[in-house]
Amino acid sequence: MASKDATETVRADAAGIARAAEILREGGLVAVPTETVYGLAARADSAEAVARIYEAKGRPSFNPLIVHVSGRREAERLATLPAATDVVMEQCWPGPLTLVCPLRADANLAPAVTAGLPTVALRCPSHPVMQALLAACDFPLAAPSANRSGFVSPTSAAHVLATLDGRIDAVLDDGKKCEAGIESTILAIRDSGAWDELRPGPVDLEGLYRFLWPRPEPRIGQGDSGIEAPGQLSSHYAPGKPVRLNAEQAEAGEFLIGFGPVEGDVTLSKDGDLTEAASRLYACLHVAAHSNRSGIAVAPVPETGIGRAINDRLRRAAA
Ligand code: TXA
Ligand code: MG
Repeated sequence: MASKDATETVRADAAGIARAAEILREGGLVAVPTETVYGLAARADSAEAVARIYEAKGRPSFNPLIVHVSGRREAERLATLPAATDVVMEQCWPGPLTLVCPLRADANLAPAVTAGLPTVALRCPSHPVMQALLAACDFPLAAPSANRSGFVSPTSAAHVLATLDGRIDAVLDDGKKCEAGIESTILAIRDSGAWDELRPGPVDLEGLYRFLWPRPEPRIGQGDSGIEAPGQLSSHYAPGKPVRLNAEQAEAGEFLIGFGPVEGDVTLSKDGDLTEAASRLYACLHVAAHSNRSGIAVAPVPETGIGRAINDRLRRAAA
């Protein structure tokens, strides 16, 4: 499907989901709500469709995409699953956990999806709209966050249109904000048995370890092979203005994003609730980006639980 001038907004009911599946089947691009952020979906087995994702987002081609699947069976067709993934999938799928596993030689994915890596990132989302869409498609969906590369991630259909209107075929709108509000946790399970947390997110891996014996050897941060760690794109999630972190108050010309006792122009969470803060993070950054102030200040957020993921995204927004 050639790129069009206008992006169709499609209601996320049965007819809308069928329409979205048809656009995808023909190789088009559809933005879809998930429980984390909106994804920009294309069929993962089509080189042309995947190329359109990179083009619409202006995404560097060395940054691989997450493949969304309806469940374990589909995951098994694409990757060799290490034994430990049984427990992980039981505990966390469907949900906001992405697993990086060795790619199968017969996976039949467009090479650009994995950007030449021997591994593939797999996610089974719990959002009912994304689930219904995957059920309506007989191919896996590659889906990065539905924003121009380097900009703030979208948690509503309006956020998607703010940077991709006219560049994609359709957006499925369920009229709600994405619940978790922050991208999935990315976990790589290595042949060596090591677990690498490549990106912190809504799933706290510590909580998972109690289900495992022997306990994995968790490693946090960079993966062990080159480009694969998402953290390498340092200026990510950029709102287009200077961002100052750990601010107790606003300085002249700054829009303050508050948290807990630090009141702001808006707040991540008045009660200091980290889950609420994660769900509101990108919406607050969007508001701050569109305000008439020249800079953004953000109150301190504790580095515990999902606070780690929030601070990870804030540091990149500030880079
Ligand atoms: O919550 C999410 O994960 C959202 C929704 C839409 O599902 N998607 C998302 O995609 O955040 P994206 O493209 O914005 O981030 C995908 C990250 C990238 O940082 C990429 O480097 C990493 O996943 N990634 C993809 N394939 C990988 C692989 N084989 N090994 C290591 N990292 C990989
Ligand atoms: Mg992204």
